Amino acid sequence: MIAAKGLDGIVVAQTNISHVFGEEGRLVYHGYDIGELAGKATYEEVCHLLWKGTLPTRAELDALNTAMRAQRTLPDGGAGLRLLPKTTNPMDALRTGVSLAAAQLGIKGTPTTDQAIALAARFPTIVATFHRLRSGLEPIAPRDDLGHAANYLYMLTGVVPPENHVHGLDTYLVLLADHGMNASTFTARVIASTESDIGSAIVGAIGALKGPLHGGAPALVMDMLEAIGTADNIKPWIDNALNTHQKLMGFGHRVYKTTDPRAEILRDMARHASTPEFFALAKGTEDYAIQELNRRKPDQRLYTNVEFYSAAVLNSVGLPRDLYPATFGVSRVAGWTAHVLEQMVGNRLIRPQSEYVGPQGLKFVPLEERGLATIS
Ligand code: ACO
Repeated sequence: MIAAKGLDGIVVAQTNISHVFGEEGRLVYHGYDIGELAGKATYEEVCHLLWKGTLPTRAELDALNTAMRAQRTLPDGGAGLRLLPKTTNPMDALRTGVSLAAAQLGIKGTPTTDQAIALAARFPTIVATFHRLRSGLEPIAPRDDLGHAANYLYMLTGVVPPENHVHGLDTYLVLLADHGMNASTFTARVIASTESDIGSAIVGAIGALKGPLHGGAPALVMDMLEAIGTADNIKPWIDNALNTHQKLMGFGHRVYKTTDPRAEILRDMARHASTPEFFALAKGTEDYAIQELNRRKPDQRLYTNVEFYSAAVLNSVGLPRDLYPATFGVSRVAGWTAHVLEQMVGNRLIRPQSEYVGPQGLKFVPLEERGLATIS
């Protein structure tokens, strides 16, 4: 048995939730190309699609909205998050907040859609509560007359957000809600497959999302664009990064061998939502990076991934930079929970094997005798 490094090319589950067609640059949720949904469906409608397999009827959407409204507040009112240092990484705060909420709500047993709703509805509240507390401000309760995206922005700032910000964030949440067997989704499915519980699965998934090779990249994209600064610095900056073997954040993908379709949609959004100067810098950086990556590594087919323009869009709706990965989580919890529910239908423990490359046949040497040969 030969190890497939990074499980590259290994199919680990059958799913009807979503699929990435990497060669064509397509992402499908339950039969809908992502372009069919982005900007048209709300995040709540997409949650229904991922959890139930169909877009909701008006009555189903009303029922889902009612259920989410009832689940937005934190069981302890945010008391647990007050214990965290203000310097806590927001992803650690999200992970802790979800763990607390799952325990306080008594989430256990076979995962259910109600449990998925109970967790997904609280993600924005946890992030916003932590952000307020670390800023020395009191948390703001969600409002019943606002949807999921609007409530997130409202709970962060205390101001009812403008419609263009709500639409921008809602579209972002739709775009990032699921993405085939990505690392965090796989993590959630592995945990669920042990017949643990949905809270544990989602806490584990947050940990997997945190890394810069997955959901931690967009803040680093902003850092990169800030470091580049001006159009005439694009070429020297990128050349230097690649000459010193650094990875360019927001480029490359395990499955896409062309531009990520979500990046195309986010680019269009960023074009309208950012300042012309910022967009020109981002687009100039993208164009030169792709040209250089493909000149230097033609076999890898490295293109823009979702994180590159996520940064610009999240910036344009006023989100602080270090909340970008947690905001990715606010979206992706829909997909994680859908996969946990799917995993439990005909569940079988996910337990792969490893290729053993260590020694064999060693004989035990008592402690007093170990290392004697080298000492004497
Ligand atoms: N910049 C420079 N070179 C790159 C990049 C990049 N962004 N991405 C891949 N490469 C190169 C690697 O250096 C490697 O080259 P080599 O074979 O000469 O050593 C080759 O392409 C293959 O790279 P891997 O890291 O092995 O590819 P893998 O499929 O494992 O990784 C990943 C995919 C993690 C997304 C990678 O492209 C990367 O690190 N990108 C930058 C971080 C990033 O944008 N993360 C967000 C991902 S999107 C998401 O999760 C939502």
